[in-house]
Amino acid sequence: TQNLPTFTIEPTTTPIDAARRAELLENPTFGRVFTEHMAIIRYTEGQGWHDAKITARRPLSIDPAASVLHYGQEIFEGMKAYRTEDGGVVTFRPDANARRFRASAERMAMADLPEELFIEAVDQLVKIDAAWVPSGEGQSLYLRPFMISDEVALGVKPASEYLFIVIACPVGTYFSKGCVSVWVSEDYTRAAPGGTGFAKCGGNYAGSLVAQAEAYRMGCDQVLFLDSRERRFIEEMGGMNVMFLRDDNTLVTPALTGTILPGITRDSLLKIAADKGLKVEEIPLDINEVFEGAASGRYREAFACGTAAVLSPIGRFKSPTGEAVFGDGETPGPVSLSLKAELTDLQRGRHNDSRDWVHRI
Ligand code: COI
Repeated sequence: TQNLPTFTIEPTTTPIDAARRAELLENPTFGRVFTEHMAIIRYTEGQGWHDAKITARRPLSIDPAASVLHYGQEIFEGMKAYRTEDGGVVTFRPDANARRFRASAERMAMADLPEELFIEAVDQLVKIDAAWVPSGEGQSLYLRPFMISDEVALGVKPASEYLFIVIACPVGTYFSKGCVSVWVSEDYTRAAPGGTGFAKCGGNYAGSLVAQAEAYRMGCDQVLFLDSRERRFIEEMGGMNVMFLRDDNTLVTPALTGTILPGITRDSLLKIAADKGLKVEEIPLDINEVFEGAASGRYREAFACGTAAVLSPIGRFKSPTGEAVFGDGETPGPVSLSLKAELTDLQRGRHNDSRDWVHRI
């Protein structure tokens, strides 16, 4: 284990004035408005992590032969900082993101970033850009830690040079409507056993885009992928996990089999649901059972969950052969809404945090 580098802080020399910032914070489109700084740390094989900096956010200069541009060694995380009622700022389970980042790096043969360094980089960035954490309902500062390989080399091998960077953007709600609609993709799959499905690598998202485009064409907001072997078991959506409420008060979600992303919102909701007295099942979930169950009333509610999406109720699923409608297709179910309230209250420090999930900055 190496000594962790300490951060050099270089505040921006062209700060944005408070009035302009207030304007930008009003109703930001997801991922379009960014804060003034970034965290950046370099890794060099043999030397470890070095040159840790908080600096003005600016374009990177990258060699056209940098390996990420060719072979795609790239991983990322999604997490959020929240404004609490007392005016403070907190993040939610940053240790879980740091752990998952290490798992993604391992799968992509990338440098191992110590969890303390991941958390320190995020904390330092949130601290310097704290004025960018919005306070409105449903608003937060979305944090995007990521790592790229930038060794100048076209040989197909794990790179010897990496950059770890954290950027941040104020965000509101991810979906603008109360209930989203979901297209079940029968042509495309997202991940296969032994592949990279559990890793948060850019390539997984690149591979989802053509299916997502098909979903839009079919009038849906998101795409749902099925397993690659039998095209029958529900996996996850383009960028979020999926859960269902059965009529026996059981919250059901696909088990983590290595082909789906182990969502931190997913894990949190399962624990919150169990605390509320719901039964929780992580099982293989057949799409046909869900379609039949929606019709019979056996399956009552459905929702998407993720850091960006928080908890987004699903009104209907469409497939090439049919449709599954939950409730009237427009109105979120009561259990979904109460789980969402519980989660967001906790994230904003409004609840007793018995699990120590809230990390004060
Ligand atoms: C997140 O929820 O943070 C993600 O990384 C998913 C992406 C669709 C924004």
